[in-house]
Amino acid sequence: MAWEYSEKTKQLFLDAVHGKPGTHLGEIPDADGLGEHGSIACGDSLRFTFRVEKNEDPTKDVIVEARYLTFGCTSAIAASEALCIILEARACTPIEALKITNQDIVDFLDGLPDQKIHCSVMGAEALEAAVVDWAKKRGVDLASLGIKLQEQLEEEEEGRLVCKCFSITEPFLRRKIKELNLRTCEQVTAALKAGGACGNCLHAPGGIQDILDDVWAKEKILAQDAAKAATPLKSPTGYVPISGDGALPIMGQTNIPAPKPAEVTPAAAGETLSPYQFAKKVEAVVENSIRPLLLRDGGDCSIVDIKGNLVYMELHGACKSCSSADVTLKMLVEATLREQVQGDIRVIQV
Ligand code: FES
Repeated sequence: MAWEYSEKTKQLFLDAVHGKPGTHLGEIPDADGLGEHGSIACGDSLRFTFRVEKNEDPTKDVIVEARYLTFGCTSAIAASEALCIILEARACTPIEALKITNQDIVDFLDGLPDQKIHCSVMGAEALEAAVVDWAKKRGVDLASLGIKLQEQLEEEEEGRLVCKCFSITEPFLRRKIKELNLRTCEQVTAALKAGGACGNCLHAPGGIQDILDDVWAKEKILAQDAAKAATPLKSPTGYVPISGDGALPIMGQTNIPAPKPAEVTPAAAGETLSPYQFAKKVEAVVENSIRPLLLRDGGDCSIVDIKGNLVYMELHGACKSCSSADVTLKMLVEATLREQVQGDIRVIQV
């Protein structure tokens, strides 16, 4: 759907702003669940509250009333209305409410313009935050029920800030890219707003494009691993998994044993390296353990930059044009650096 709002979206918006009875603009005092998403400084913000009918067993509380305050556009108001209507109609528990997705909101509205999908995402995120708040107030341990929202929220608050304009962190981006199957920067901006203001975060090192590349490269590797598990060791590209004797994988070869890692001591558990020590160690591993393997196969690599745990690398020679280059980067370069320097290193091709 391009530029047009559905009739339902327009009607819900108009009903809400005119305060038609039965609409949900407002806030429940002493709400049982309160969740917020977005920020007024970023242009869109939603404050969502719900009230439950309490049960002796709090996990059986039922949501009976929902309200929202939003600083946003037509679709933000309509999406918030839709969320409240869906919740009240379902008369479900807060835990069951977590099954409501942004797609349910979009469907209820008979679609949203692509550029406005983030309004439905905002509703689903505010609902999650409100359920976490309800769980805290009612003493419900979501983790023990197999629901990890609290961890997720904390992780997202603490994660590296990628989009400064919209205060969006890397863990949040990674989760949403997978959940919503976002493949391009445009889709990320439409769904999450990230990258939609100054645009500096789109193609900066460690920015949205890098995160997209990394998320989907990992998914591809997982798919390849699953395919390999179902077939004999040697793949059509000659790529083989790391063997028990430490032989490293390399494109175009089968089982050539890797040279012994030289002059590099694996990071001891818990060892903290200064940025300088970290960079020197990365350089040493690349020189001693990685480049010899690539050179032997007509390829090469060089470090372009190191920022935090992100290592930006350029591939050269045969590696550059090889169709398995991303696999080489992840399974040889990144895996070796993780093994010999630090377990959370990410290698990004530039
Ligand atoms: S930093 Fe992301 S749009 Fe400005």
